[in-house]
Amino acid sequence: MNTPFFLIRKDLLTENVRCFRKGMSDCWHNSRLAYSVKTNSLPWVLRYMKSQGLLAEVVSDEEYELALKCGFADSEIIFNGPIKTEPWFLRALRMDAWVNIDSERELQWLEQSPMSRAKVGIRVNVPTELFLKDDIGYQEDGFRFGFDVESGAFEHALHVICSAIDNPELGLHLHCNSMTRNPEVYKTIAAYAVSLMDRFSLRISFLDIGGGFFGGVPGKTKPAEYFSVIVEQLRQANTRSDYQLIAEPGSALIGSTVELHTSVLDIKDIEKSRIVTTDGSRICIDPLWSKKGYTYRTQPIRTEKTERRQVICGYTCMDHDRLMVIENGPALHVGDQIIYERVGAYSMTFGGPFIRNYPDVFVLDENGMEKIRDRFSVDTYYKLHTCFLDGE
Ligand SMILES: Cc1ncc(COP(=O)(O)O)c(C=O)c1O
Repeated sequence: MNTPFFLIRKDLLTENVRCFRKGMSDCWHNSRLAYSVKTNSLPWVLRYMKSQGLLAEVVSDEEYELALKCGFADSEIIFNGPIKTEPWFLRALRMDAWVNIDSERELQWLEQSPMSRAKVGIRVNVPTELFLKDDIGYQEDGFRFGFDVESGAFEHALHVICSAIDNPELGLHLHCNSMTRNPEVYKTIAAYAVSLMDRFSLRISFLDIGGGFFGGVPGKTKPAEYFSVIVEQLRQANTRSDYQLIAEPGSALIGSTVELHTSVLDIKDIEKSRIVTTDGSRICIDPLWSKKGYTYRTQPIRTEKTERRQVICGYTCMDHDRLMVIENGPALHVGDQIIYERVGAYSMTFGGPFIRNYPDVFVLDENGMEKIRDRFSVDTYYKLHTCFLDGE
C-alpha cells in the first residue's frame, strides 16, 4: 500500500458512537446525539453518522449543504455559528432544523420574517471566570461565541425570538472549548444553564451542551462520566426537566479511530541531530501546529537503538514541518513506516492540498480495506483553482 494514507478503523468508530450514545441515554431519558461536521467532514464519515441515526451539527451554509448531500434531512441538522447567511438561516428554521442563534444579524432576520413555529436555540456566552484557569483559554477577553447575559444581550435575544415566533421550541446552546476536556468544564456549563433556566423561568425544549469531550482514549474520561456530572447539575433546576439533552461531539467519536500511515524517505545525519524525512506532514495531523508528540508505532519493529536525536520531518519542505523528536529510540531506516494513531479529528479534511494533494483514505472493516478517497490528480487541482479559464 502506497503511503501516505489515512486509515479509519470502523470497529472503533462503531464502539465510540455506541459508548457515547449509551453514556448519554443512561443518564437522561430524552437525549439526542449529533456529530460535529467540522471535526471531520469526509462524506464517508457523514454518511456513516447518518446511518447510525446521529444528527449533523454544521456551522456554515456549505456544511449544511454537504450534510443534505450526505443524506441528512433538514430536520436532522443543527445549524450553529455566527456566519450563517439569511437564505440558509430561514430555510433551516422553516424546514425544522435546530437553529442556534449566535449573532445580532440573525435576530434581525428573524424580526423581518416572523413565523408560527421553529426550533431556535440561543448560544450562551459563558463567563470564563466560572471555569478553572487551566481548563480554558481566553481568560482575559472571554469566549467569542454566544450572547452575553449580564449585558442584557441574552434577554434581548430571548425577547426577539419570543416576539417573532408564535410557538418557539426554545433551546440553549452552551458549547465551550476547553484545553483539558475536564469534566469540571461540563459541570460549570450545566450549572450555568440551570442558573439561566431559573433566573429567566425558561421552559426550554432542548439543551445543547456542545462537544469537546474525550472518547475512545484509554485512561481518559468516558462519556458516562461526563453525563453523570452534567445531569447531577441539571437535576438541581427548579424548572421542569422534560427537555431534550443534545451533545455534538466530534473528536470523541472520530478522533481515536484514525491512523496516518507514513514512510521514511530519507535519513541524514547532521552535527546536532538525525533528520528523518517522511512522506507525512504536520499539515495532515496537527491543525494548530502545536503538538509535540503522538501515539505512534513503527514497522518493522527495530530493536537496535540510536543515541542520535531523530527529528521526524514532513514532506512540505518548510523547515518547521517537524512532527516529533525521538530520543534514545530504535534507529529508523529508509522505507520504515511510522503510523500515527488517533489522528481523526481536524486532520484528513483540514488544511488543503499544499505541495502534495490530500492523502488517500481507506476504511478497515471486517471485509478488509476499502479506499474511500483517492488522492486527487494535478488535473483536478488545476480545475479547482482556475475558474477564470472556464469556457476556454
Ligand atoms: C459548536 C461546536 N460544537 C461541537 C464542536 C466539536 O468539538 P470536538 O471535536 O472537540 O468534540 C465544536 C468544536 O469546536 C464546536 O465549536
